[in-house]
Amino acid sequence: MTNPTSTDTLYAPSAAFVANAHVTAEQYKAMYAESVSNPEGFWAEHGKRIDWIKPYTKVKNTSFAPGAVDIKWFEDGTLNVSANCIDRHLATRGDQTAIIWEPDDPKDEAQHITYSELHRRTCRMANILEGMGVRKGDRVVIYLPMIPEAAYAMLACARIGAVHSIVFAGFSPDALGARINGCDAKVVITADHAPRGGRKTPLKSNTDAALLHCKDSVKCLVVRRTGDQITWAEGRDYDYNELALEADDYCAPAEIAAEDPLFILYTSGSTGQPKGVVHTSGGYLVYASMTHQYTFDYHDGDIFWCTADVGWVTGHSYIVYGPLANGATTLMFEGVPTWPDAGRFWAVCEKHKVNQFYTAPTAIRALMAHGTDPVTKYDLSTIKVLGTVGEPINPEAWNWYNDVVGKGERPIVDTWWQTETGGHLLTPLPGAIPTKPGSATLPFFGVQPVILDPQTGAEITTTAAEGVLCLKDSWPGQMRTVYGDHERFEKTYFSDYKNYYFSGDGCRRDADGYYWITGRVDDVINVSGHRMGTAEVESALVAHVNVAEAAVVGYPHAIKGQGIYAYVTLMNGVEPSEELRKELVKWVRTEIGPIASPDLIQWAPGLPKTRSGKIMRRILRKIAENDYGALGDTSTLADPSVVDNLIENRMNRG
Ligand code: WTA
Repeated sequence: MTNPTSTDTLYAPSAAFVANAHVTAEQYKAMYAESVSNPEGFWAEHGKRIDWIKPYTKVKNTSFAPGAVDIKWFEDGTLNVSANCIDRHLATRGDQTAIIWEPDDPKDEAQHITYSELHRRTCRMANILEGMGVRKGDRVVIYLPMIPEAAYAMLACARIGAVHSIVFAGFSPDALGARINGCDAKVVITADHAPRGGRKTPLKSNTDAALLHCKDSVKCLVVRRTGDQITWAEGRDYDYNELALEADDYCAPAEIAAEDPLFILYTSGSTGQPKGVVHTSGGYLVYASMTHQYTFDYHDGDIFWCTADVGWVTGHSYIVYGPLANGATTLMFEGVPTWPDAGRFWAVCEKHKVNQFYTAPTAIRALMAHGTDPVTKYDLSTIKVLGTVGEPINPEAWNWYNDVVGKGERPIVDTWWQTETGGHLLTPLPGAIPTKPGSATLPFFGVQPVILDPQTGAEITTTAAEGVLCLKDSWPGQMRTVYGDHERFEKTYFSDYKNYYFSGDGCRRDADGYYWITGRVDDVINVSGHRMGTAEVESALVAHVNVAEAAVVGYPHAIKGQGIYAYVTLMNGVEPSEELRKELVKWVRTEIGPIASPDLIQWAPGLPKTRSGKIMRRILRKIAENDYGALGDTSTLADPSVVDNLIENRMNRG
């Protein structure tokens, strides 16, 4: 991942934009200063942006202390997240569109779901879930296409206090089964098929396969999306479309404590299996809604489009919870940017008069390759703000986004955050902070970034600095724990650097105090903006009978940002072949899902190891990058000739 140090050009918002913005440069400075000097007072005030059943009296009770990490916000308050996202808007905007749904196939009709309709649908779904035995605190896995029912399902869980765990529809049956078991879910909600880019993923049959490895008591609620034939297990499977006809239109929102869990979302880390990130109700909603409003300068009546999938945190915070808590119109898109052609995003922007558009650098790079015509033929004049998230954006992509999509006039918000953070931590506020291509600029309110020396762990206090990015204090959207494993939470985020939250990212701060993310410093790779743990792909590979050992690293990839490079040592007596290579790629797709497919597999008779047997990934990374000059110290290798062999074969690849 390159660090775009070369582009320090400042892009300031126009005077007209600033005049209408929620926050100007002066206001940002004053509000930020208040947010860090008096977090209690600041958040006591801003916590009121949502409705509380019982108002909080305690605001912040957080500790990053070793062995005693504990994060609580608004802890004695109670609320209902679904009532905040729906009911409280009914009196003033019952007839306003809450969700615009744009289907995969542009020939099919879009849907406009009003807040009143959203209320009815969510209540019915909540009643169906209750009818299936789901109670407060129970876990519900959601494995759905990008259809409105995904939002109904999330909000229905929130309504009755059940905890949802969404599994991206691109994950395999094995990955789904592991997540159902991981949180001991009572119900899994799925659909017959998920149409995407003109193709269909068989979600129901994937779910059937996953459930073979789950408890018999797990029930399955099936939404009919395509109407295709599916197999049915009597007694286990429930037909959503039928039940929704009968279900009651009203379900009272339960009173939920601020620190009761709202959702679990599995994400990859540098070690072991993915961990269940837990977000709770009050602080998360305050933070998601506040960042949605300020980062995108969202105003009443705007049409907001985040292109992420609800299977990722971006979809949770910026398709569903943030926008709906703000009474926004949020667009949900089932398709992909390049089908039926590379103009789809822009066709949708024109069709629905989108005002804020939020996507990922990988999508921008993929579209850049198709030239400017697919963009310029559409009217994008309604767009006011452009956003990006998921990985560092390279200046070429930033400039294309700015010039071609934004006509050089729309502020670009490059938002840095994580599944763990719940919402944006570093981001320009479009009316307040001039941008630099490739920099996520400055912290959001209440966020205190610090750069530490990776070796000593000491905070670098000069303005210009480079090191690892940590956070000094909590913010309301912070994850609270790893599901069922608080120790792992402490170990992952609070043990390398004591008294700080460690993000896992490297970072540079320039002389103006702007932050530039340089990419992960751990064994997590970022493929098309999706996190993938190298350990996960490795354990999938070694689960194959012919594989003795595997080491996986990231390498620069023109569209994906990083690609997956696997070094594979075969079992004695197994001959490498093109067939086996293909089989291993397919194997990983089945074990985890298509997003984990290795882009390159290199046969490795041996892997570079230290004398104590630890694989030296640093060297493997360099070889994958075709960077042999900088292999560094290889003197601790048990067998240095292994490296020569790997280089030779990498080079032979051309
Ligand atoms: C990376 C996605 C640079 C980063 C919301 C982080 C970014 C990881 C940016 C989290 C950005 C996300 N600039 N890097 N604007 N946004 N990242 O959990 O490495 O899927 O740690 O959350 O993506 O990925 P996650």
